[in-house]
Amino acid sequence: MVQNREVWSTRLGLILAVAGNAIGLGNFLRFPVQAADNGGGAFMIPYMISLILLGIPLVWVEWTLGRYGGERGHGTAVAVFDYIWKKPYAKYIGILGVMIPLVVVVYYVYIESWTLAFSIFSLIGAVPHEHMNGSAAEYLKPFKDFLLSFIGANSESPIFLNPPLSAYLFFVITMFLNAYILYRGVSAGIEKVARFAMPTIFILAIILLIRVFTMTSPEGRNFLDGLGFLWNPDFSALTDPKVWLAAAGQIFFTLSIGFGAILTYASYLKPKSDVALNGLAGASVNEFAEVILGGSIAITASVIFFGVMSTQEIAHQGAFNLGFIAMPAIFANTPLGELFGFIWFLLLFFAGITSSIALSQPAVAFLEDEFGLERKKAVLYLSIFVFVSAHLVIFFKGVLDELDFWVGTVGLALFAFLEAVLFMWIFDSKKAWEELNKYADIKIPHIFYYIMKYVSPLFILIILTTWVINDLPGKLEQSSLNVWIARGFLIFTIILGIILVKKAWEKREQRKVKNG
Ligand code: PHE
Repeated sequence: MVQNREVWSTRLGLILAVAGNAIGLGNFLRFPVQAADNGGGAFMIPYMISLILLGIPLVWVEWTLGRYGGERGHGTAVAVFDYIWKKPYAKYIGILGVMIPLVVVVYYVYIESWTLAFSIFSLIGAVPHEHMNGSAAEYLKPFKDFLLSFIGANSESPIFLNPPLSAYLFFVITMFLNAYILYRGVSAGIEKVARFAMPTIFILAIILLIRVFTMTSPEGRNFLDGLGFLWNPDFSALTDPKVWLAAAGQIFFTLSIGFGAILTYASYLKPKSDVALNGLAGASVNEFAEVILGGSIAITASVIFFGVMSTQEIAHQGAFNLGFIAMPAIFANTPLGELFGFIWFLLLFFAGITSSIALSQPAVAFLEDEFGLERKKAVLYLSIFVFVSAHLVIFFKGVLDELDFWVGTVGLALFAFLEAVLFMWIFDSKKAWEELNKYADIKIPHIFYYIMKYVSPLFILIILTTWVINDLPGKLEQSSLNVWIARGFLIFTIILGIILVKKAWEKREQRKVKNG
């Protein structure tokens, strides 16, 4: 089995694929919203601290676990947890590293399909193009209505969304593209797409950056106002746990850690590959794309046009308002706005698709490695699951938010905690450190040994505890029908995961008996 596993074909291709994995909607949509909603400069301090104390250490944990699994022919946390923990339940906990990205991809692909739709709408001039007058709220209204009607959220019904056929078609196209790339495989599909998409993303982002940096508002605001909002440190919010939670959550999301997806990518390393430098390089490219590119486009443009107060208000109103409402509104007031709108949404689409294939790959790897399925079949099953499940997100109000909350926020922190403890405590910290530094192309400062062993797990534990005390009770009080649809789906996925692991291990036992 080990001989048959795919590998990345070149180191550059690997880095681009990993960058494609990490650089996603999180960098260009989620980061600006989180930063603006949590006070700009106040957000950046906990963000940077979380990067050093949680982000980088966990990147190394996942890369090392992934290479460890890959060397033994397995690319998901299921088998890796089983090897390391040697307890019968370990593999069942490991399935979280397949199910978390699988649930995320169900809504991620749908949002990704909006970006494809909006890029084409921008190009053909189908988004509103009112000129700026009145207050920010008045001016943004037609753009808001446009988004709401596209996702079908302006219906009276408290339960259903009624998106137009076009939204559904864009979703189908996006699904198909994802399936096709995955079907082509690790080096001929994922790596090849990343080689093209990653440079393209950087070029598109730089074009937008130049455009934004040369904008001014009638009130005389320019890009320095936007950058000032993000980069003037504000120490007043450091005692607010909400800002810390948001910053740490963003670090997990953007670096793709606590999903199991980096682990899967690392399992396709060639034998004797470095993980220390590869991990750091991937994380660095992602952070450049996040704080420099992601941080300078949407926030800066919005601050120039609407001012800091309104930008915070826009970010506060919803995760999509900055990217899908404020940005088109800004471009409507910009010469060649159609073209810049197209570029903005195309950038999001490329960033999205290289991430959604990464979110899907753990499930594909699980079916291949543990059931011996051919890639074609594995991708087919995965695609059917995602396609069918996505209907809950497309047609039921609030399901997307509920899933994102439990899986894209809480689930990540929980799984990252398990990975860190498993690696540094159960596997044993000395062995873990050796494993990380094996074949390493850089020397990791020894202080990270202590950070990985004590600081990171404790940090996550504090975050989780604070969250359980502050937010869990309020969250559990919500019990509308739709919230329960989402929760029901989550329970179903967990049960499905457990059954699959059980089946896979039964098959293994049978094979062992057969082979004597
Ligand atoms: N990091 C991606 C983003 O910023 C999300 C992601 C997580 C992608 C896990 C793949 C795996 O959008």
